[in-house]
Amino acid sequence: MVLRFSTVPGDLLDETVSTPRGLALKLLGVPGERADGAEGATTQDFVLVNGPVFGAPDAKHFLKMLTLLATTTDKVEPLKKAVSAVARGSEKVIEAFGGKSGAVIAHFAQHGGEWELRVQLCTDLASMPVKDASVEWPQAQSPYVSVARIRVPAQLAWSTQRALAIDDGMAFNPWHALAAHRPLGSIMRARKVAYAAMAKLRAQQNRQPISEPVALPALA
Ligand code: HEM
Repeated sequence: MVLRFSTVPGDLLDETVSTPRGLALKLLGVPGERADGAEGATTQDFVLVNGPVFGAPDAKHFLKMLTLLATTTDKVEPLKKAVSAVARGSEKVIEAFGGKSGAVIAHFAQHGGEWELRVQLCTDLASMPVKDASVEWPQAQSPYVSVARIRVPAQLAWSTQRALAIDDGMAFNPWHALAAHRPLGSIMRARKVAYAAMAKLRAQQNRQPISEPVALPALA
């Protein structure tokens, strides 16, 4: 399994700037019928963010939000901080690993980590809509169910070699999936096109081919 942390803005920001935080998982060697476009691969990705809902109900509204966000890219950090706070639906600055640059690397050098993966099952389409990604599914109606546990040992979380192999040599995409996990809704359909286009662009610009791994690369 490969695990990757990320932030939303396209430009490099100090870790103390509050933005939504992403977590992408890539499971290797998963057999089975694939979702459209994932034929031939044996990976299953989960591309997650640390909020209960997405900031926009559907792809059309998301485009409007993006247009606004694009006007702030490369502008001063205080403005970006404000926009990011709105994007994550909170004005609070919560940092899981403290505010210092390099905190994530320092943490994993010593401690490793453990996560319990939980899902909500859709038991009622009216109160748990698939077409509106901005609605929080009521836990009273559908409590989270634990489906997996991830344990990682203490390790070197970042190195030039790891960045080349993983950040540049791989792409995380919810459509790298089994047919049984085919993503649903317009936000997810928009992601299909956007992630493929971005991976292609990155491969071209970095002059580094991107492919779906069949085995973990040997990393220092
Ligand atoms: C539920 C909604 C969403 C979540 C949870 C989410 C989460 C993430 C995460 C965690 C990453 C970083 C992946 C990595 O580590 O490489 C990412 C990348 C990305 N996201 Fe999203 N995202 C969402 C919606 C969208 C939408 C609607 C679009 C555009 C239509 C989009 C476009 C992208 C692009 C272009 C990348 C970069 C991919 C790459 O460089 O290979 N995302 N997203």
